[in-house]
Amino acid sequence: MTRIAVTGGAGRLGRTLVSGLAARGHDVISLDRARAAALDVDGVEQVAIDLLDADATANALAAARVDALIHLAAIAVPFSAPEDVIMRTNTGLAVSVLDGAIRAGIGRIVAASSPTVLGYGNPSGWLPERFPLDEETAPRPWNAYALSKLMIEQTLAMLQARTGDAVRYAAFRPCYVIAPEEWAGVPTQQGHTVRERLADPALSAPALFNYVDARDVTAFADTLLAALPDIRNGETFFVGADDALATRPLAELLPRFVPGSEAPAAALTGTSPAFSTAKAARVLGWRPAYRWRDQLPDVAAAASAPLPATAAADRKDVPV
Ligand SMILES: NC(=O)c1ccc[n+]([C@@H]2O[C@H](COP(=O)([O-])OP(=O)(O)OC[C@H]3O[C@@H](n4cnc5c(N)ncnc54)[C@H](O)[C@@H]3O)[C@@H](O)[C@H]2O)c1
Repeated sequence: MTRIAVTGGAGRLGRTLVSGLAARGHDVISLDRARAAALDVDGVEQVAIDLLDADATANALAAARVDALIHLAAIAVPFSAPEDVIMRTNTGLAVSVLDGAIRAGIGRIVAASSPTVLGYGNPSGWLPERFPLDEETAPRPWNAYALSKLMIEQTLAMLQARTGDAVRYAAFRPCYVIAPEEWAGVPTQQGHTVRERLADPALSAPALFNYVDARDVTAFADTLLAALPDIRNGETFFVGADDALATRPLAELLPRFVPGSEAPAAALTGTSPAFSTAKAARVLGWRPAYRWRDQLPDVAAAASAPLPATAAADRKDVPV
């Protein structure tokens, strides 16, 4: 059993992560300016706080007497606020919370980054050398959200330079998070349902068809915190499902949305995702357990059924 502080615990990912870690036997303290009714469960304490207040944050973290911190609090959606506000908020939160954790003597520190650091969706073009994308792929952020996430990774590196291995750090880049209730029809982060996202590739294409079930992020975080003292300090991990959130192979879909990607995307046959989680499997032994085909079996069955001849003739993405 570990005592874990989670910032942003009342949010979309936080609610599943905090309650899931408590269900796994940990004591969890959620620090958020909002309260979540879903966190009124055994093993969870909620602290209402503005985490941009650095002294209040360091004091709250010290009072919490935790072994580990998971930092989620952020403006979580690109362009959901003016660029300067996203930059100031996310980097301000990172310094306030992560530096506060050092001041509070917390020995294991994990922060949420984002796959968007890689820079896909850039209106001036973006083309990787190869798929799947992994932790070796060069980050090329093109908006304040993505840059702020890269700064969070750099804030961890800065603190590691200061403390050395006396404190253990890691960053993780969760793919498009799907909370358990969202499989049942609650709108996802972008306002549409998972079913709508699967029905219209244009909705999932901006995230390169990536996704992860929030329960898999919980299992990842639990595994990561346990392993932190023993793995190389300061690692970064992608956390995603092991298939794509699409009903057609990405080798076929990606070239429609990422101009010029025919050659690198050709590697993504079958249900292969654009992002590799091989590093998390290799270093931590973690693998995702949830797949959309198990959550939405009717959509999966319809996608794999042979198309009627007329429908097949109408579909531009199917060779007929
Ligand atoms: N949801 C995704 O698909 C996704 C994908 C990649 C990365 N991430 C990252 O994961 C983290 C969690 O994402 P989410 O979707 O749960 O976001 P969310 O917006 O649902 O939750 C963020 C939480 O942070 C809290 N918060 C923000 N500013 C605060 C402040 N000043 N003081 C106290 N609390 C504050 C909010 O109240 C909220 O509960 C974020 O860092 C996000 O960038 C999310």
